[in-house]
Amino acid sequence: MAEPTFEGLIEGLEQYLEALRDQGVQRVEVDRAVLEELAREPEPEVEPAMLVVEAAPIPAAFTTLDAIAAHIAQCRNCGLCQERTRTVPGEGNGDGPDILFVGEGPGADEDAQGRPFVGKAGKLLDKMIDAMGYRREEVFIANVVKCRPPGNRKPLREEMELCLPYLRQQIRLIRPKVIVGLGGTAMEGLLGQPVSITRMRGIWQEYAGIRLMPTFHPSYLLRDPSKKKEAWLDLQAVLAELGREPPARK
Ligand code: URA
Repeated sequence: MAEPTFEGLIEGLEQYLEALRDQGVQRVEVDRAVLEELAREPEPEVEPAMLVVEAAPIPAAFTTLDAIAAHIAQCRNCGLCQERTRTVPGEGNGDGPDILFVGEGPGADEDAQGRPFVGKAGKLLDKMIDAMGYRREEVFIANVVKCRPPGNRKPLREEMELCLPYLRQQIRLIRPKVIVGLGGTAMEGLLGQPVSITRMRGIWQEYAGIRLMPTFHPSYLLRDPSKKKEAWLDLQAVLAELGREPPARK
């Protein structure tokens, strides 16, 4: 069966609501998260060919994380280079940490500072890391795309594909025991196909031979704190996989 298009879904929804109205229904309950998702700016239609600014090949094997970061700083492989202030390669313990957290891409704060997860979502990620019994510098934090998508739009599939070799090589050098994928977009970038994070969260996946736990993105948890319970279950599963227990609450 063909995948339903966004327009098709909206049209179907409109017809359904009109049918309800015709039956005299005057009020329907809608989850706030659904409304926010519908209000999210649609992805601009960009010809994939236009995205390649200058296809500099990514070296097959970097030997250090600094070499990868230096290469990213010069990268002009996709259109995101045009509006970035700073590249955001990622940071943390690059020597076999228990956990690598992977987000979707830098926002405004990260773009200004060149560091991942330093804005509001980052503050919540820090709390999640702390609740698991780690310090931020003990784990590694990275993103699928290393430059800020303008207006915080979702990175395009092509942008993620062009940037992913950096993350793959970072993972090869970092050798994390477990990867935590933060949100549907990060998971889509890693797995190369659209995913429903609501359905996939909490279910172990694998990336480059490493166990990968999908969970909600901290920004989503800020918008819908009721989902924190599920995210905490996912993080507890990660701790169990690592043979650890969450520390006693302070
Ligand atoms: N959101 C992300 O996905 N990554 C960041 O670095 C910050 C916010």
